[in-house]
Amino acid sequence: MNAPLRIGIAGLGTVGAGVIRLLETNRDLIAARAGRAIEVTAVSARERGKDRGVDISGFAWEDDMTALGLREDVDVVVELVGGSDGPALTLSRAAFKGGKGFVTANKAMVAHHGLELAEAAEAGGLALKFEAAVAGGIPVVKGLREGTSANELTKVYGILNGTCNYILTTMESTGADFAETLSEAQALGYAEADPTFDIEGVDAAHKLAILATIGFGVELDFANVTTTGIVAVRAADIAQADALGFVIRLIAEADVQQDADGPKLLQRVRPCLVAKDHPLAPVDGPTNAVVAEGNFAGRLLFQGAGAGDGPTASAVVADLIDIARGDVGAPFSMPVTQLASLGPAEPGGRTQRTYLRFTVNDRPGVLAEITAAMRDADVSIESLIQQGRAGEDSEVLVAIVTHEGPEANVVRAMELLEGSDSLTGEPLVLPILPS
Ligand SMILES: NC(=O)c1ccc[n+]([C@@H]2O[C@H](COP(=O)([O-])OP(=O)(O)OC[C@H]3O[C@@H](n4cnc5c(N)ncnc54)[C@H](OP(=O)(O)O)[C@@H]3O)[C@@H](O)[C@H]2O)c1
Repeated sequence: MNAPLRIGIAGLGTVGAGVIRLLETNRDLIAARAGRAIEVTAVSARERGKDRGVDISGFAWEDDMTALGLREDVDVVVELVGGSDGPALTLSRAAFKGGKGFVTANKAMVAHHGLELAEAAEAGGLALKFEAAVAGGIPVVKGLREGTSANELTKVYGILNGTCNYILTTMESTGADFAETLSEAQALGYAEADPTFDIEGVDAAHKLAILATIGFGVELDFANVTTTGIVAVRAADIAQADALGFVIRLIAEADVQQDADGPKLLQRVRPCLVAKDHPLAPVDGPTNAVVAEGNFAGRLLFQGAGAGDGPTASAVVADLIDIARGDVGAPFSMPVTQLASLGPAEPGGRTQRTYLRFTVNDRPGVLAEITAAMRDADVSIESLIQQGRAGEDSEVLVAIVTHEGPEANVVRAMELLEGSDSLTGEPLVLPILPS
């Protein structure tokens, strides 16, 4: 058998310890599939003495993880620390400078610095792999980079954040409101103590930008992902959506559209109504799912665990097996110099059906005011539901589903209603995902 592939691991938390456990548990099978053994030679984390549930006594220890990039006995550095900049980025640069391959689960770093890293990897003929950075254990990076590589993709979209999906589907099953469900998710470990990146859609945006680059052959453009989180979704919206035949999911979607001055990239993350018979509707709990539509493959659905030590370690080690087999390849499916620079699409010209929710004062003329704004902005109403008062002080909820029409018209209608003293809060505007 060939010489072992020697790896140095930075970060021994959930994923790092999972990788060590997986390499140990499936040692023989991995060696057989990789054509050689994969051996950990050195590790680094913050606290050397911490019990991590795995035996690290046989590995060299580095206090400064950057040193992993310089070690003679390391072929590939595995970065499982996190953070878009800081030590993880310093380590990646050191690894490429030291002639090492680099595997990471760090979506924030890849979304922000992926092109720089890929350039360094390509210049050195080195591997850069990040399967675990998108949708945990689901082989969707591989799916798009290899499985659909013969296709022109028309669309990539899906559920890319397990925390949001857990919260939304729990709200669905319990009828509880957002704040209560978030606290419960935190207690159960499905949401971080600081959940901002998840519930505001930033984490999904990181992953979407990476998928768009691989799927469409475009330069990474995380800065232009428009992002709306799930904080404004109420239990009442989920109940209304249910009555109308929908569920609510945080959907990340990307496609390339032809604008007047050429092709443009549309990337957005936002809660959407999803018809109950859509393949994304039954995706519940912390599960992730990605739909890719190819011009020859048709619609493909990738689904599975988007996080957790086992699934994420599975993706990291799959990357290592590829490297052990000699697969270097372009990290984003084509060399960085061939990725197109498209610029962001203007979404206003798109058409969609839309769900609108208003909370209003219960007094005559309010409904007329809302429907007049719709008429003046040329938004055609398909259905309107007014939910009666639940108590003396409670507000009235008005839910509207529009016919398909330009997004810009809905924006205009909302502008017409801005500042109206009939409204008791910000309206909620949720697109309806096409089936
Ligand atoms: N958890 C998941 O399910 C999951 C899924 C997909 C992707 N990811 C990504 O995987 C990466 C790791 O996530 P995780 O959940 O395993 O995180 P984690 O449990 O918080 O572990 C982070 C590890 O990094 C070490 N570390 C932090 N700062 C360091 C520094 N300055 N120098 C050296 N070591 C440092 C910590 O050391 P100590 O242990 O000594 O404190 C810890 O071992 C992140 O990029 C994350 O986004 C995670």
